[in-house]
Amino acid sequence: CKHLCHSLDLSLEELDYLFNLAKEMKKNPAKYSNSLAGHILGTLFFEPSTRTRLSFESAMLRLGGQVLGFSDSDQSSAKKGEGLWDTVRVMDGYCDIMVIRHPKEGSSLLASEYSQVPVINGGDGGHQHPTQTLTDLFTIVTEKGSLENKNFAFVGDLKHGRTVHSTLLALARYKGNKFTLISPSELKIPAYLREQLTKMGAEFEESTDLKSAISDADVLYSTRIQKERFFNEEDYLKLKDNYIINNCVLSHGKKDMLVLHPLPRVNEISIEVDSDPRAGFFRQAKLGVYIRMALIHTLIKGGHTNA
Ligand code: CP
Repeated sequence: CKHLCHSLDLSLEELDYLFNLAKEMKKNPAKYSNSLAGHILGTLFFEPSTRTRLSFESAMLRLGGQVLGFSDSDQSSAKKGEGLWDTVRVMDGYCDIMVIRHPKEGSSLLASEYSQVPVINGGDGGHQHPTQTLTDLFTIVTEKGSLENKNFAFVGDLKHGRTVHSTLLALARYKGNKFTLISPSELKIPAYLREQLTKMGAEFEESTDLKSAISDADVLYSTRIQKERFFNEEDYLKLKDNYIINNCVLSHGKKDMLVLHPLPRVNEISIEVDSDPRAGFFRQAKLGVYIRMALIHTLIKGGHTNA
């Protein structure tokens, strides 16, 4: 069966198909409100989540399906020592599709090897978050019209941020895009990702200077410093407020720049920015429901995807 473990698992044609279906579902929700009746989505969340878990739940409910699962490893038999492979082999008898979030990198890929039903990666450690990438790309298409010939500025914890890793790779496949990667020197993108971007021929530069980097940006993508991935609190505290996007910083950006953030935010985007029309992060979170509706529908019912 088909799974989605990595943001490169979907071809550009498959992505287009999902964007069009999500657009159609947003425009005409009644047409799809019963389309997954009798189907169950399993949510296996071993790490906390608001958006990913609940937007998947919302998506399945809006399609007429049902949801079961757990939202924390303490609520499952993982607490008693059960391996993910056994949990998955049991859960695939209880549901028709499952979303897994787990602190270990590669966990969803492992799960996909044991599951008889489609597995969707809801975030595996600091590695990948492909449905956040679908949300990000769908938001950019919706708000900027295309995914090509754009200047992107990514800022924050580029070392641990799985949304950055997923989304950068996905955007690097579209022609004409340029990337400025802004972070403290301790939080640059991992070496494997730098190599992969280079192999793909992506045009990118690394910087520590936010203000000068955003002047050309069409999309500014901010991320939280990932406290849970640090070995000690002292290092986190030293880096946590290095880049704060406020109205003064935004005054250096283009008038039509789009500001995205996967959320949750801690302190990296000031609340004062929320009333700026360029602040797209709550619109982004909402669009996440429609693209997840399109994904679940396609993985269960079939359609143009070989994921
Ligand atoms: N963007 C995102 O993954 O948010 P949650 O951690 O709340 O799911």
